[in-house]
Amino acid sequence: MTEIEQASREAIYQEIIPQIKSLLDGETNLIANLANVSAVLREAFGFFWVGFYLVEGSELVLGPFQGPVACTRIGHGRGVCGQAWATAQTIVVPDVHAFPGHIACNAASQSEIVVPVVRQGKVVLVLDVDSDRVDDFGEVDERCLDKVAGLISATLK
Ligand code: SME
Repeated sequence: MTEIEQASREAIYQEIIPQIKSLLDGETNLIANLANVSAVLREAFGFFWVGFYLVEGSELVLGPFQGPVACTRIGHGRGVCGQAWATAQTIVVPDVHAFPGHIACNAASQSEIVVPVVRQGKVVLVLDVDSDRVDDFGEVDERCLDKVAGLISATLK
């Protein structure tokens, strides 16, 4: 991604982060909130797939998303999502074909970022964004999506 593309993406995040904040303000229903956040992110950037996986026992289970049909369950430590859960760290994958263990839900996906949402020291869900362009995510996405994850975390009891 070029510097100009990163800069314009940053400007869009600066517009939508306050919008996300006000959407979440005063609404405690997690499904409704995750549905709206995935819609805002996909509408703003046209990403291939935007959605959430929720921790349920020893698995992640598909939550609200925007985009093509996706895998419903991912084991702890499996794929990019399972690793982001296991390590509680954001993972940026510039080329999914080069990532060991990547779970291909759709052949069109080329790069990916997964951001954990942490509450009281525990990962409770992950935000997963897929692009059909190689190397589509960088420092701007990491920082701004982490902010989005923080806003979601603040809505959790
Ligand atoms: N690629 C992910 C699986 C989820 S889909 O991309 C929507 C992974 O490796 O965890």
